[in-house]
Amino acid sequence: MTAADAVIYGASELVVGPAAGTAEGSHPGADGSPADPDAVLERIEDGAVAIADGKIVAIGPTDEIVAEYPPESAAEAIDASGKTILPGFVDSHTHAVFAGDRSDEFAAKLRGKPYQDILAEGGGILRTVRATRAASDEKLLELLLERLDTMLSFGATTVEVKSGYGLDTETERRLLEVVGRAAEMHPVRVVPTFMGAHAVPEGESTADYVDRVIEDQLPVVAEHAVFCDIFCEEDVFSVEDSRRVLTAGREHGLEPKIHAEEFAHLGGSQLAAELNAVSADHLLQATESDATAIADAGVVPTLLPGTAFALGTEYAEPRQFLAAGSEVAVATDFNPNCYAPGMEFALTLACVGMGLSPAEAVRAGTYGGGLALGASRTEIERVPAGCGTLREGAPGDLLVLDAPSHAHVPYRFDESVVERALIGGEPAYRSRADSEVDR
Ligand code: NIG
Ligand code: FE
Repeated sequence: MTAADAVIYGASELVVGPAAGTAEGSHPGADGSPADPDAVLERIEDGAVAIADGKIVAIGPTDEIVAEYPPESAAEAIDASGKTILPGFVDSHTHAVFAGDRSDEFAAKLRGKPYQDILAEGGGILRTVRATRAASDEKLLELLLERLDTMLSFGATTVEVKSGYGLDTETERRLLEVVGRAAEMHPVRVVPTFMGAHAVPEGESTADYVDRVIEDQLPVVAEHAVFCDIFCEEDVFSVEDSRRVLTAGREHGLEPKIHAEEFAHLGGSQLAAELNAVSADHLLQATESDATAIADAGVVPTLLPGTAFALGTEYAEPRQFLAAGSEVAVATDFNPNCYAPGMEFALTLACVGMGLSPAEAVRAGTYGGGLALGASRTEIERVPAGCGTLREGAPGDLLVLDAPSHAHVPYRFDESVVERALIGGEPAYRSRADSEVDR
């Protein structure tokens, strides 16, 4: 018998990760048919998991695990009878550090005003930039910590956060420092991305601003970030601008990500393939040949159904990426235009809006998200290998759901089924209903 730091046992369903034989490139449903929900996830009935030193040390049937790792000798023992154990969600695309309020733009968009017209008039991202520049570091930190609490309550145990509401060297640096402080203070694993090329600041030309991002911002911010991202879009940054910024980012040690083919089809996904970017995100207008290019290059297509929902547009087409052999990620894109901090609702939209099965959606929100943050790339150290799975050696980041199966996550869309979250084996979240059981 061995002592573990945490033992969670008796779960009616324990989701381990992708089912054997369904790793990237052979995802069921690749022929275009909906996948068998039971096929894409490896699951254990009456399952248990043991965690020591922050990592999964054993996973399997409850009788085997508790014989080796008795719950009574673990600091944290959870009886998960009737419940589900899932890998924590990996929200691989958020813009969660910002100040200000854009709720009135929501109303304008409902009246038919396009997102890009609002931006062209100095609203949208540029309005958030003004509010963010005016906010103190302490205020930005407080806002980010509150949002991380909310995201964790909806099951995200790893969250990527992009800068991009500063658009000048000083504010971009401040934003990434705030993200770094939040990462130290908050249990969620926070992954910082530099996105100085999020919009062109008012009064500047695109060409000059691209120079500023490369010459002024990158050397100052690079030490605070893991990835470099850009909004490759009509009237924002061209493919050539994106190539320059992402190549310079890589020279500073930041691996590329890209906002591609969101409103217009510009060629950002082909660029992502050319640069072996970690992910290409949005992809609403991506074509089959884009899907093939990014699959062949190992770029993770990251789909953000909340954005389509908020804008009232068509959703991205996940089947074309699965058919091409990609592992798909689903994330929230939490930002002032898509005020949706919860991974659970993103997975509901992935099913109802994009046609993924519940198991595919859960896989995209866990394992897919981990890949989109470089979990399988040795050159990217920030996100541990195995992130988004509960295999031996993976980080001890898991959820206990007050529900008998993973399907309840997308199915129950206006409530959270997350009862507890452990990060690195440490208790990180407990729902109010669950806390009341002890009173
Ligand atoms: O991913 N498209 C660019 N950036 C964000 C929106 C940011 C904003 O509107 O504030 C996105 O959707
Ligand atoms: Fe985004």
